[in-house]
Amino acid sequence: IKSYVEKPRPYKLMETGVRTLDTLNPMVEGGTGFIPGPFGAGKTVLQHSISKNADADMIIFAACGERANEVVEMFVEFPELDDPRTGRKLMERTIIICNTSNMPVAAREASVYTAMTIGEYYRNMGLKVLLLADSTSRWAQALREMSNRMEELPGPDAFPMDLPAIVSSFYARAGFVHLRSGETGSITFIGTVSPAGGNLKEPVTESTKKAARCFYALSQARADSKRYPAVDPIDSYSKYLEYPEVIDYLNQNVHPTWVEDVLHAKDLLLRGREAQEQINILGDDGVPLSYHDKYWKSEMMDRVILQQDGFDAVDSSTPMPRQKFMLELILDICAKDFVFESYDEVMPYFVKLINICKQMNYVEFDSDKFKGYEEELHKAVDERSAK
Ligand SMILES: Nc1ncnc2c1ncn2[C@@H]1O[C@H](COP(=O)(O)OP(=O)(O)OP(=O)(O)O)[C@@H](O)[C@H]1O
Ligand SMILES: [Mg+2]
Repeated sequence: IKSYVEKPRPYKLMETGVRTLDTLNPMVEGGTGFIPGPFGAGKTVLQHSISKNADADMIIFAACGERANEVVEMFVEFPELDDPRTGRKLMERTIIICNTSNMPVAAREASVYTAMTIGEYYRNMGLKVLLLADSTSRWAQALREMSNRMEELPGPDAFPMDLPAIVSSFYARAGFVHLRSGETGSITFIGTVSPAGGNLKEPVTESTKKAARCFYALSQARADSKRYPAVDPIDSYSKYLEYPEVIDYLNQNVHPTWVEDVLHAKDLLLRGREAQEQINILGDDGVPLSYHDKYWKSEMMDRVILQQDGFDAVDSSTPMPRQKFMLELILDICAKDFVFESYDEVMPYFVKLINICKQMNYVEFDSDKFKGYEEELHKAVDERSAK
């Protein structure tokens, strides 16, 4: 039975406190997304930080076929955490569905459906539900094992033939709805996928990519160089950024030119990567000075906005006004022309600016210390900017 009147396209921003998601590739209330990443790239840590800081009434976490110690960690950690929204314990509005790797396969197949059904129950009460599943690859493997035992015809990699249909009908259960009571409710779903060998062409990743609207690709290279969260800013995308209703919502609620600024920031990152590739091929003095400038401006964006310490009390969660402030600040600096005599002046200068910005990230927003760093930053920028 359909328990809601209609299911329009979602449009409201769902804050997660994670800058690389909220600023660059926003998730919306009732949206779907997935996090593919090789082993140890930080999928679980990212999902945990989303679950701790997200702007949701209920959090449902399906631990599906993952290591028991990680799940135990959740059970130990969550009851300790304070909920910034209510001032009580975070555990009071969290549900953990647990099926670790040593538990039966049939239960693993059922665990994500259980989580979704519980989510629908709360959505029908007019609540904002955030559903997380770690990892949906284990769920797909359970589907495979069941279908093989039932001697169904196997599809690619021995997954069931209808894997894409199963995945997309599951993702389709998420969404933003108008209830019969006149209220609204939503289920936002973010799953992780662990493709074997980081191969994004395998069936589970491919089918999920078709079904989910946001793609947060974790990159091994970023994880190896400790650039956490390792979400690749260039490969990742949020299709919601193309929805006119989402663009209107963001421009009205964050900043009048927000979406334009975000696209500009993405462009800076891409230009920076291109410059870096050229520098690597041609050598530091084989490229024009402007390449170093471009590269270091993108580094600044990367280190100040994208990288975030998931374990720091202040930095682990950034509210939207603060994200807006920092993005505008960095974009302003990137728009300036700096005067350098030679390429070896570029790096030390930008490292200095980056360090001041990082200090800002670690202190309370708008505190005296924060303002002190801001002043220091403006002074350093003025020193070198072309008049
Ligand atoms: N945001 C972060 N800040 C600091 N360290 C991090 C962050 N994300 C990940 N790490 C580090 O990377 C390690 C591995 O992360 P995590 O367990 O989330 O990987 P995973 O992708 O879930 O791996 P698996 O596929 O094995 O489940 C963590 O133990 C932590 O040390
Ligand atoms: Mg994990």
